Amino acid sequence: MPKLKNLKLKNRIFLSPMLEPNDIAFRLLCKKAGAALTFTGMVNSLSRQKIHFDDKPILQLFGNTNKGMEEFIKKHDANVSGGDFNLGCPSKLSKKLSHGAFMHKDFENINDILKTIRASTKKPVMVKLRKSPQALQIAKIAEEHCDAVGIHPRTSQEGYSGTADYDFALELKDSIKIPVIYSGDVNEENVKTILKDFDFVFIGRASIGNPNIFSKVLQKEKNFEFKDYLKLAKKYDLHFRQIKYHAMCFTKGNPKAKEMRRKIISAKCVEDLE
Ligand SMILES: Cc1cc2nc3c(=O)[nH]c(=O)nc-3n(C[C@H](O)[C@H](O)[C@H](O)COP(=O)(O)O)c2cc1C
Repeated sequence: MPKLKNLKLKNRIFLSPMLEPNDIAFRLLCKKAGAALTFTGMVNSLSRQKIHFDDKPILQLFGNTNKGMEEFIKKHDANVSGGDFNLGCPSKLSKKLSHGAFMHKDFENINDILKTIRASTKKPVMVKLRKSPQALQIAKIAEEHCDAVGIHPRTSQEGYSGTADYDFALELKDSIKIPVIYSGDVNEENVKTILKDFDFVFIGRASIGNPNIFSKVLQKEKNFEFKDYLKLAKKYDLHFRQIKYHAMCFTKGNPKAKEMRRKIISAKCVEDLE
């Protein structure tokens, strides 16, 4: 049975941290479909946003200070499977605030933050990086404090376009002794091959509108539809805008997608989506 520090896992396939898609209903569906771990989108420890924990996710933190992190982690520790620190966000806001992928040169701060996270929990601690000239050095810092490193080998300038630099991720894997989670275009076809090179994989975009990707790669019988998402979304009282977003995503690959999307666009309330 795979393990991450003291955490026993059903398999080596995780739902990637994703800010917009990863609401509690979607994370629960991915977990039911077989994802060994689910990650929240990035959360700032000073924010007061409501977080649901019924899937026992890995809580992903971001920011460029350890201020408030210890209290935040301790407050939620019993409800999560571990913590992750975001060093990959390429957004304009992250650039402006020197967060995510834009704090790679700030080694001292990164060291302080990871040290704080480590000292605040006995559960697995991870960091998720993008490719950069400093990434290998950061991985070395992570080796001291963390139980795994996640790598999405595209630079912040590349965003989500172009080909992920698989060789860079392999170089990172070879340079540290702790487990590495690979992220970048993982899908049904390549997941088994990637798992020969890396300890764990993240599935991100390929799961949006398609949580069944986990059951397919794990050869499980589970098959979820939008109605399953909707049931959970209603239970957790998620925003209509969020539900509409997932309704759109679930049309992916459906032969009637065009017609379905037209109806979804004109929907004014949750009942219109049923
Ligand atoms: C809509 C969206 C939101 C994302 N939000 C986050 C996030 O909050 N934290 C993070 O570390 N990565 C985030 N990512 C990056 C993914 O976790 C992943 O590394 C990237 O999409 C590449 O993997 P994929 O090709 O499997 O999607 C996000 C990606 C997408 C598409």
